[in-house]
Amino acid sequence: MLDLRAQHAELQEELLDAFSAVLASGRFILGDAVETFESDLAAHCGARFGLGCNSGTDALWLALRGLGIGPGDAVLCPAFSFFATAAAIVRVGARPVFADIHPATFNLEPQDAIRRAEQTPNLRAIISVDLFGRVCELGPLESYCRDRGIHIIQDAAQSIDALDEMGRTIGCQSDVACFSFYPTKNLGALGDAGGLVTDDAELAGLISRLRSHGESEPGLYEELGLNSRMDALQAVGLSVKLRHLEGWTHARRQLAAHYDSLFLEHGAVAADSDAETPAGHDLTRGAKLPVLIPTPSRRRGRQSYHRYVIRVSANRRDELIRTLAQDSIESAVFYARGLHQQPALAEFAPASRAPLPETERVCEECLALPIFPELGIDRVERVVAAVKACLTA
Ligand SMILES: Cc1ncc(COP(=O)(O)O)c(C=O)c1O
Repeated sequence: MLDLRAQHAELQEELLDAFSAVLASGRFILGDAVETFESDLAAHCGARFGLGCNSGTDALWLALRGLGIGPGDAVLCPAFSFFATAAAIVRVGARPVFADIHPATFNLEPQDAIRRAEQTPNLRAIISVDLFGRVCELGPLESYCRDRGIHIIQDAAQSIDALDEMGRTIGCQSDVACFSFYPTKNLGALGDAGGLVTDDAELAGLISRLRSHGESEPGLYEELGLNSRMDALQAVGLSVKLRHLEGWTHARRQLAAHYDSLFLEHGAVAADSDAETPAGHDLTRGAKLPVLIPTPSRRRGRQSYHRYVIRVSANRRDELIRTLAQDSIESAVFYARGLHQQPALAEFAPASRAPLPETERVCEECLALPIFPELGIDRVERVVAAVKACLTA
């Protein structure tokens, strides 16, 4: 799915120089190196403040705690995301409320989210997840939240360097945006790392204290935080990589465009993010190639294609995965279960039957194909040919 060796071989000298400087400094946690990365990250997002921490999971926890969310509060998030989105809500003592997604974007469907928000007492925040590198378009949900003082936290773990459809950078539509720098992310550390951006000085100050156990002055702890300080070695590595990110995003977008045009040429269907799609509607009915490809962002949007995810009929997916593997092509399912279907979160699942139909359907149909900057157009061609051969056999 991803080969980081080529990226690291190209950056080896820059990375080793940066690591040597840290060794010479003797300062391994926070300090100048982390402050430099924090201002690089803030500048990249056009935000006032950037903060480093230990992981994307911690970043979500810090954002929630920083906004004062805790026991008795509800936080709405999509049911289709990585486990950490909901786990962070539970870990601050709040209750996750799961909303459904739009089948073409894999992100929150604003009208569905508003409907569920209306039925949720003590709703203090929503977490909008920019899944697979596509910024979640909040549309009317943004003003709904602003009018009611509901905070917006952006789970941008997968979307660094993406723009929303109004051309806004990450963080512009939220109170705070959270990043993961897990090694396989578009901007990946050499271990666990995470970060946040915000324009709110008070919030930035509080999060900065919370990541250091809540220490407000040396030896004084006025609230309970975490030990979630960023390592200097990770920070310098991330600063090096951040300088290359735009080029990598460009390469990912070119590969995605190539996937799109080849799939369309072979008769696949492009998902329409503006279309009303009744639940259960077969989006590939009558298609020559029964594959639904993601819609590219329109207007001024820019997807960062953390993943290139197609949809295929549920009863062909396992066969497709097996056939691709025989051709030495890796593919992967993100995610096979909705968050409400995870045993650890069962108590938060909505009571009604089939409560999140689009999420459940996408879980059965989604398939991520290889994408990373060094993948190469010829390998994209091989993948599409193999998908076609399998599904039209
Ligand atoms: C959508 C989403 N949220 C949160 C996280 C958590 O990030 P981390 O693995 O850095 O804790 C991830 C990372 O996998 C993610 O993809």
